[in-house]
Amino acid sequence: MVNRTGLVQYVADGTTLDYVGGLEILKRWLIERRKLFQMRDQLSADIVPKGVLIMGISGCGKSLSVKAIASTFELPLYRIDMTEIFSGRHGPPESAFAQACKILEQISPAVCWFDELEMAVTSSESAGEQGRMFAFFLTWMQEKTRGLFVAATANRIDLLPAEMIRKGRFDEVFFVDLPTDDERVEIFRIHLQRRGVDPSKFDLERLKRFTKGWTGAECEQCVVSALTTAKLEERDLTDDDLLNATATIVPLSKTMKEQVDHIREWAFERAVRASPREVVR
Ligand SMILES: Nc1ncnc2c1ncn2[C@@H]1O[C@H](COP(=O)(O)OP(=O)(O)O)[C@@H](O)[C@H]1O
Ligand SMILES: [Mg+2]
Repeated sequence: MVNRTGLVQYVADGTTLDYVGGLEILKRWLIERRKLFQMRDQLSADIVPKGVLIMGISGCGKSLSVKAIASTFELPLYRIDMTEIFSGRHGPPESAFAQACKILEQISPAVCWFDELEMAVTSSESAGEQGRMFAFFLTWMQEKTRGLFVAATANRIDLLPAEMIRKGRFDEVFFVDLPTDDERVEIFRIHLQRRGVDPSKFDLERLKRFTKGWTGAECEQCVVSALTTAKLEERDLTDDDLLNATATIVPLSKTMKEQVDHIREWAFERAVRASPREVVR
């Protein structure tokens, strides 16, 4: 059923919270919600976790975190493809969306992931259609079965209707910012380890000074690029490989500075930070 429509895809992925660097506030919150979610049949409806909205800068771990939610909650993960919804292959977006929600009800319990929600706004649909779709979504969020935990992600939440973030819709709205110095060290450590390299052998404190303003995805890219150099020369990775790789990456926070600043400013008063603020030393 899931594969036939293409609207809802099963995501097989073993990502756990250990793969996510930083975002400590979000992680702590998720672990608390897991407990409540598992007790859902004994709780009154207003306490049962309904879902979370995670917004923020591209490449900083939103999708990664959603994958980790599913394994934390010990539930299967289903992704709702917004491009498919707007493709016209399933009728008007509104009814395609309703159809996807109906499928989800049948596969509960599960985590359902509405990825890149702002696609609904940047697509060519009329404002009226978009409005109806979001209204439907928010109503469904309130009425859906208890067995579904919704994880919605957006890079540009500022493009979405204000109702989306109004209290009581989602249990919480988190803002995932560029990683802090300490978070980048953790992210480097995770990605070295995942590739079989012992991170304790590297000067990550020095590396963090050269990677200010980088996203998690850029840190990963740096590790991959440095490892590629080392492998080509058939030797072990060195600190210099990592440092040299930093010079080849131009971070999004530079190339898209205005957009990144805008998102940060927007989120500042409207969302809960997923990580503690940078400690100025
Ligand atoms: N906080 C992080 N910790 C570890 N890896 C990260 C982090 N942020 C990004 N990455 C790496 O970058 C990749 C892309 O990040 P992703 O979660 O897809 O970003 P987005 O916020 O755009 O959804 C991830 O799969 C992961 O490998
Ligand atoms: Mg993403």
